[in-house]
Amino acid sequence: MKFFLDTADLAEIEEAASWGALAGVTTNPSLYAKIGGKLDDFHAHIKRICDLVDGPVSAEAVSTTRDQIVREGRELAALAPNVVVKIPTMVEGLAATRTLADEGIPVNMTLCFSVPQALLAARAGARYISPFIGRFDDIADDGLGQLANVVAALGNYDFSQSTVGGQQVEVIAASVRSAHHVTQSALMGADIATVPFGVLKKMVQHPLTDRGLESFMSDWEKVKNA
Ligand code: E4P
Repeated sequence: MKFFLDTADLAEIEEAASWGALAGVTTNPSLYAKIGGKLDDFHAHIKRICDLVDGPVSAEAVSTTRDQIVREGRELAALAPNVVVKIPTMVEGLAATRTLADEGIPVNMTLCFSVPQALLAARAGARYISPFIGRFDDIADDGLGQLANVVAALGNYDFSQSTVGGQQVEVIAASVRSAHHVTQSALMGADIATVPFGVLKKMVQHPLTDRGLESFMSDWEKVKNA
């Protein structure tokens, strides 16, 4: 499993990248709004993220018609070689994905909540598909179960003819709210988990690691004083 950071916050990205395990970043309009992002700085901000990350950076199109999404997608893709255009799962989004994929522009199909949506996204040429976990849990549904269904269904078929450069579509476990979500996503074979910085920090932690470290340190003090 690869790890993406789900944020538009440059400090978080810089910090996570320094840990050595960051493979990409995903952003969305809400995450950009959360950092106080301004419309006229959006493209420059995406470029700044792309400079910090050695891997794909998803930047979301906010248009709702095919032609506008395609135009926006081309503009976003021109910002940096590692931009992935994030497009919501809807009819116009699927059509735009086909056009962009045919032009060699990678798409991350987002707001995916069902197996049929994921299958259509893969056939339309999406390079990445992002089934959301947490938002299912929010409505008292089983987010991990829904993700497992998507992973299993996509695994039944070969989509390499549909995607950019014949690469296999990758599933990004999205709307991740806990380390438990990451564990279960990995066990079911999701290719990537995109996680908020808070979850990434929790993934490193374990009380037995803390306790073990404490005893190693105190025993080493005994060695030094022996
Ligand atoms: C995915 O790429 C989305 O940006 C993100 O995971 C959404 O998470 P949320 O449901 O916690 O907002």
